[in-house]
Amino acid sequence: MGKMQNFENLKKEAAEKAVEFVKPGMVLGLGTGSTAKYATLRIGELIRDGKLENILAIPTSDRTAELAAEVNIPLTDLVKNPKIDITIDGADEIEPSLNVIKGGGGAHLREKLVAQSSKKMIVVADESKLSDKLGEKWAVPVEVLKIAVETESIFLKSIGAEIKMRKNENDENFITDLGNFIIDADFGVIENPYQLAGKMNSRAGIVEQGLFLDLVGIVIIAGKDGVRILEKK
Ligand code: 5RP
Repeated sequence: MGKMQNFENLKKEAAEKAVEFVKPGMVLGLGTGSTAKYATLRIGELIRDGKLENILAIPTSDRTAELAAEVNIPLTDLVKNPKIDITIDGADEIEPSLNVIKGGGGAHLREKLVAQSSKKMIVVADESKLSDKLGEKWAVPVEVLKIAVETESIFLKSIGAEIKMRKNENDENFITDLGNFIIDADFGVIENPYQLAGKMNSRAGIVEQGLFLDLVGIVIIAGKDGVRILEKK
């Protein structure tokens, strides 16, 4: 309980710090996961209290859309508002040049779409997510077309991954918001994430993979010694 409680506090601290970057009139991207959730809640609170006006937000998952609607954040989409000022989202693993792995919640396709449309992407996390190199702690979530699950499993193994199908709580294949499967591909420590991303991106059956390279501008990390803000050099 104690440890869990701590992590919750750290997640909340990092997320609320990120919301300080939000100004009235902005179009926001709302991330997915247990850390990003606190940013959505805080934005809802500021709107409710009349401290943040004229906000429009684009959720990165159905779950986030529901939460944002519950706290009365006005929602829009990338058709009406293809340019986002700030996106606040979580990550699963973060290395020193601010490249990250995402997709632990299975939302990385919409998350990457929103990140690529954002002037500034802020990642919020507790310090357990930091590592020296991507792949030390986390597999790369790979969203694949259902009809391509076998071909892409064979491909991922051929480039060195140990693979696992993502399952839901009923032990059935997890299905993303956009109707695809996820294969978690463990490559071990990834020496060259750009090369690996290139290989996966060239596959027709892979819809999107969870390496977010050169997309994150700011990382806000909460740890036992306080909150740190890391900026992309
Ligand atoms: C969802 C994500 C999440 O942002 C990531 O998994 C981190 O989640 P949490 O804050 O719950 O640890 O990429 O697809």
